[in-house]
Amino acid sequence: MKPTFKFLVTLAFIITVVFGQPLRDVEIEVKVNELLYQMTLAEKIGQMTQFSGTNKQYEQMIREGKIGSLLNVIGAEENNRIQKIAVEESRLGIPLIIGLDVIHGYRTIFPIPLAAAASWDTVLIRKAAEIAAKEAASAGIHWTFAPMVDIARDARWGRIAEGAGEDPFLGSAIARAQVLGFQGEDLADPLTLLACSKHYVGYGAAEGGRDYNTVDISERTLREIYLPPFKAAVDAGVGTLMSAFNEIGGVPASANQFTLRKILKGEWGFDGFVVSDWNSIGELVVHGIAKNQLEAGVKGLTAGVDMDMEGRCYTTAMEALVAEGTLSEELIDDAVRRILRMKFKLGLFEHPYIDESIQKELILHREHIQTALDLARESIVLLKNENDVLPLNRGKINSIALIGPLADDKDAPLGTWKCEGKQKDVVTVYEGLKNKLGGDVKIIYTKGCDVKGNNRSGFNKAIKAARTADIVVMVMGESADMSGEAASRADLNLPGVQAELINAIAETNKPIVLVLMNGRPITLSNIESKVSAIVEAWHLGIRHGNAVADVLTGDYNPSGKVTATFPRSVGQIPIYYNHKNTGRPGDPDNKFSSKYIDSPSSPLYPFGYGLSYTKFKYTGIKAENNRLTPSDDLIVSVNLKNVGQREGVEIVQLYIQDITGSVTRPVKELKGFQRVTLEAGEQKTVQFRVPVWELGFYDLDMKYTVEPGDFRVMIGGNSFEGLTMDFKVVSLK
Ligand code: GLC
Repeated sequence: MKPTFKFLVTLAFIITVVFGQPLRDVEIEVKVNELLYQMTLAEKIGQMTQFSGTNKQYEQMIREGKIGSLLNVIGAEENNRIQKIAVEESRLGIPLIIGLDVIHGYRTIFPIPLAAAASWDTVLIRKAAEIAAKEAASAGIHWTFAPMVDIARDARWGRIAEGAGEDPFLGSAIARAQVLGFQGEDLADPLTLLACSKHYVGYGAAEGGRDYNTVDISERTLREIYLPPFKAAVDAGVGTLMSAFNEIGGVPASANQFTLRKILKGEWGFDGFVVSDWNSIGELVVHGIAKNQLEAGVKGLTAGVDMDMEGRCYTTAMEALVAEGTLSEELIDDAVRRILRMKFKLGLFEHPYIDESIQKELILHREHIQTALDLARESIVLLKNENDVLPLNRGKINSIALIGPLADDKDAPLGTWKCEGKQKDVVTVYEGLKNKLGGDVKIIYTKGCDVKGNNRSGFNKAIKAARTADIVVMVMGESADMSGEAASRADLNLPGVQAELINAIAETNKPIVLVLMNGRPITLSNIESKVSAIVEAWHLGIRHGNAVADVLTGDYNPSGKVTATFPRSVGQIPIYYNHKNTGRPGDPDNKFSSKYIDSPSSPLYPFGYGLSYTKFKYTGIKAENNRLTPSDDLIVSVNLKNVGQREGVEIVQLYIQDITGSVTRPVKELKGFQRVTLEAGEQKTVQFRVPVWELGFYDLDMKYTVEPGDFRVMIGGNSFEGLTMDFKVVSLK
């Protein structure tokens, strides 16, 4: 039964007055319902169907209203061509929404997300997302399958490269920045992108760090560790989420009513739509909870997945299921409303086509490239600097032996999910050093070995180069395809014979600066003592080489801090800073305590760790009040002084421990951070304001609560050490 216009106007009035919805949203609700009531069941199911690429069959299905979205269609011209078929040749002219994995840049490629996270600079991260959106939107893309906000505590998992690391508080801050960056102030702005937080949920907890593997975590861990960045994205207004491949305790994420309907659409009131990951609905058959595609489709839709990416479950099964009464059309209507709502918010009905002239002035704009360099510099982490071998002393050094398979590699800096990134746009470390030092310092470059394999034929030439130089810079690590999707590793040492080459060069007794290029924390214990300095340079995007050269020469003082723990060995994994105390916390002097007999329990580099070319001193921690109720704010400060010889940025971190609770609590949790710039000798009071309400947890009844009791706050430059003081939370009554 089609509603009268009068009914729709009344509906609009009610929504505006009663629910206080902005008029624009109300207008959209009216349009959504007007359109929905004109649609046939087949057209509704079409909106819920997404395919990858284009071909004649898909073009005909678009004409018949049987496809509502495409992904992986590249270029403004091609996107406008295919959109024209939907808008001008289908019965209702509903525009397509076209998606792409714009993860860390479209053509101007920024550092991979795990690197950018190490900057802790949410302002710059947001700006990079804005630029990625402008470039992708100018090429006819409407929707990015980003940000990936999966918390990862296991570096064997290749997709740790795509997220912000192991901490929910930092991960939430970065998720918010990315969503605001991609979506901008108004989704109807043709140079913004609809964002998609993924992979909902728990994907990073795959057993063994093996991609797509089983996840079995408690509801408390789900709510306290893996859900917060998704909630932050929803609170920031993200328009879509992507349901994950993995199961959670027996129920696959793409058929999980608890996470999708009870939490996301229920508790959080999410009004956007959920797209499945690639055929994750169809894979319910492989998981073993659906007999066939038909049953998989019912389970996916019933659970709350609104659009089927490349699963062909909705398009083949839904119509018959509704006809025979197995599936209610209301479920379909809810999914279609959500999809149409986002298409209207994107303004696709008013402006379905992109102006093809703007991409050429936007893509690789010099300001975009500058931002890529800025973020690359801030993402670099100085992990070791023995005897201040860095920055390179340009007055003393006349020659550098530049050795390593990645020193002049143009693909690795683009990292995983390189989108439209091109090798020709990349500046390698070799090029960066030549640009900066070329005239004054002789650079003797040789690869020495490959990233993988056991070819040692380049060793002798490398050793010879080292012998003739004043210092050795070795650029080693992982190629771009060794992290990201389907790239889990069981051994986290430098691949191939790279470690052997380092040991061989160490025999020359020349100081070695190791520059790492990797998409995950790697294990360095077998070479750490052989090198004087370690610079973690990840995969930094198109200006990788310039950023590394700026840091090696001291033109930029490194400020990054790792956001995922670097283990000593793969045997320590999972290893993360916000762990529980256990009843027998590790004690080297007590045999019967939680530790290994063949390794320290501590990591090589803890969460939040990173050095600088200057030194920072923390003194005088104090709180304005140390007896607080759950409705108060903890106001605490420290004095921070730059006691070194040059300006630097310190990422000051605040951690809190709830010492006793009705359930066990982590030994500490990040609850605040600030990037502080200080001149040499300058001192600043750094103040934090932490709502006590944020110190809560899910109690025995899974209710979020802040319990009275003793708490400890620590403020410092990493998660391992800092100044501490205690405070009490008292009950309100
Ligand atoms: C992939 C990934 C997902 C991506 C999607 C579309 O399998 O899991 O992150 O967005 O398919 O490419």
